[in-house]
Parts: sequence; structure tokens; C-alpha cells
Amino acid sequence: MKILVVGSGAREHAIAKALDKTADVYTYMGRKNPGLAEISKEYEVADESDFENIIRFAKDNEIEMAFIGPEAPLEKGIVDELQKEGISSVGPTKLAAQIETNKAFMRKLFEDYDIPGSIKYGTFYDLNEAFKFIDSFDEPVVVKPIGLTGGKGVKIVGDQLEDNEEAKKYVKEIFDQKMGGFEGVVIEELLVGEEYTIQAFVDGTNIVPMPAAQDHPHAFEGNKGPITGGMGSYSDTNHLLPFLTQEEYNASVEIMKETIKAIAKEAQPYKGILYGQFMITKEGPKVIEYNARFGDPESMNVLALIDDDFAKISQQIVDGTLSEAKFQNKASVCKYVVPDNYPNTKAADTIIEVDEEKIKDLDAQVYYAAVYQDDNDDVKLTSSRALGVLAVRDTIEEAEKVCEEAIQYIEGDIYHRSDVATEKLLNEKIKHMEEVRK
Ligand code: GLY
Repeated sequence: MKILVVGSGAREHAIAKALDKTADVYTYMGRKNPGLAEISKEYEVADESDFENIIRFAKDNEIEMAFIGPEAPLEKGIVDELQKEGISSVGPTKLAAQIETNKAFMRKLFEDYDIPGSIKYGTFYDLNEAFKFIDSFDEPVVVKPIGLTGGKGVKIVGDQLEDNEEAKKYVKEIFDQKMGGFEGVVIEELLVGEEYTIQAFVDGTNIVPMPAAQDHPHAFEGNKGPITGGMGSYSDTNHLLPFLTQEEYNASVEIMKETIKAIAKEAQPYKGILYGQFMITKEGPKVIEYNARFGDPESMNVLALIDDDFAKISQQIVDGTLSEAKFQNKASVCKYVVPDNYPNTKAADTIIEVDEEKIKDLDAQVYYAAVYQDDNDDVKLTSSRALGVLAVRDTIEEAEKVCEEAIQYIEGDIYHRSDVATEKLLNEKIKHMEEVRK
């Protein structure tokens, strides 16, 4: 089968690598990702928002199915456009993708369909009403632009915002700049607990969940510094997390099932990958937000564990015949290597050298992200995350150590969080949840 992967990052590299085991992969990417270029039967480096060109590339190569990696083309309706040309996609339609692309839609869906895991919130298109809500809200708030902001729009009191007064200033900024494409905002209660990710395959009706994972969004060691797309993630042998019980995992999956039923009624049946970002709180799982695609880095954790034919699962998503997916009972750790001083780096366009052979000898894997291969075949940094290094082992501890060893074989103006998935950090999380549950 000929499958087109759209996107140019580590998530798409992981998708392509998993598909490549049983299918022919073709890639359309905005930047020449060396990992994707190596896997692909054919690839094109061009504008990822140029759907006409994507359709032409798909037709030229007699593509039978597409797999859409990032959220931006989903928001613009790439799945709908490919469908008009007879090409089905793993990815939701524009309407169904609103679960990620419109935070007001997502919160209202929970309210209207009485889905568990809901939280206190308000959506505002009037600045003064938003201010009044914050003034009357006797707790710290979370401020979210309604539309997509590349993961950089959410700000939290006690983290990036000093207090609710500063939250009001940020709300004004969102309105003034129409941040995320809307002159509006969603204001939410601040949840206390540990965040985790559950990703699931969805075929419109059926949902097959994957192992839970936990990302580390802060840029610096000790969970300090600005929020990034994610500096590393891990998953455990039993597909749970050290602080997450089976009951809590099951309850989270139930919430995802209810969400899928509600999207079908309110918008259109959802086909693709649903990414649930949850917080385990004293009252149980609550939904922070959904993404309409695989996580990055969490895609690398789960796709490396698939013990099944991923191209077949993708076909089942499209056909509406999904039933199960097997995953190895192994732990995985992924650490992101980023340019020095990321996210305020000056290292863009400098060379990064990766000794893939040495990393392979350690039985670890490299997934290229926001780097590009130039005309001399040099791999160069951009100002974003460079590559994910992943190891799969019997325990998180072993996988973490292998990741650290493997990263020694990467050279350049780079940085990584060496504390990701360490025993010290995991113990802190377990202890934190014990406090929260008291
Ligand atoms: N790891 C966060 C995300 O994929 O959005």
C-alpha cells in the first residue's frame, strides 16, 4: 500500500518509520527531514499549506491513503480536500478537528453532553465580561486563546503569570492581537495534580487506546523555565504511569469514548488519532485539552512499542473497522535534543552531527525533528527542537540510561534535559500525587 505522510517533524518520522514496516511511504514535508527523506520512496519539500500541490503529489504517486501529522493542515481542512479527490486520511475533517482547533467548542461539548472530566470555565468574546469573570473567580486561573497558537498560547497563574491581575493583562493581549485567530478567550480553573497523555486510534465510532505517557513541557531541568512543545517523555511496562492507576486510566479512556460520541453528533465522525491531555486530580481525571493528532514527543514512545501492523491499523481507522492494537510490555524513554538556550536560541543554521551507527549499536533510535538537510547533506539546526532520542527497555530506569548514553553521540550547539524520566523526578511525581490525593 502507498501511504502519504504529511509533515516534517519527529512525530512524522515516527509515523513513517512505523508504516514503513509493511507499506510504501511517501512524504510531503515543509523542510527536508533527513530521517523522512531516507525512509520515503518519493518525497517533496514544499509548502505544507498548499493543498493543491499536496493533491498533485498524491495523484502523481498513486497514493492510496494519507496520514496527516500536524494540526495546522487539519485545521485548514486537508482531510476534506483529499477526500474530494478520493483519498481517505488518518486524520479528522475540519469540523471534527475542532476538538483541538477551537477550545471554546471543546469545553462546550463537555458541558452540553455532560461528559465527565469537565472543569469550571468561561468563554468570552467581550473583554469586560472576561475581566469580570476573573475578578469574581476566587482562585488562580488558566488563560487560553481559543484557536491554535503552536502550543505557546496557554498561560497559567503561578507559572508564566504572577497573579489574576497579570492574567487580565494577558487576556487583553489576546483580544488585541486576535491571538489564535479569535477575538476571544477561554478562562479555566487551575487544576492541581500530575499531567499525562493518552493517545487513541479512532475510526469514527470505535476507539483503541495506547499506553499512557508523560511529557516534560518545561525547557529546563527541575521543571523550570518556559513551556515548550515538550522536552522528553516516557511510558511504562504496564502501559500505566508510576502515579496513575488502572482505574484512572480506564476512566480517562471512558471520557475519550464519550467525547468521540459527542463529536459525531455535534460535528462529524472523528477518524484519526485523538490525543487526550489529562490531569489526575483529587477528584479523578480531568481533561486539560485534546489534540487531533499524535503527540510530539509522545508519538515516539507509543509507536516504538506497537506490536502490530500499523499500516493495517491505519486502514482500519479509515474503513471504520478498528478492533484492537497490540503494544509490547516494555518501557520507553524519549529525550529531546534542542538548540542551546532553546527556546531563545541563536544556534539556528549551525551543523548538528549525529553518529547514527553508534546510537544504533546501543539499540536506541533517533527521530529527526526541526532540523533540515542542506544541499551539502549537512544536517542543520533551526530555532526549534532538533531531534528525539528514544530507547525501549524492560524498565524506565534502563531506557533512561540508554538515552543518556546515546545523546553523547550527538554534537553541536545543543542541550537536553538530563533529568527527564530519572528516578528522582519520578519519585517527586509519585510524592506529589500522594499529597494531592490526601
Ligand atoms: N507534547 C505536547 C503535544 O504534542 O502537543
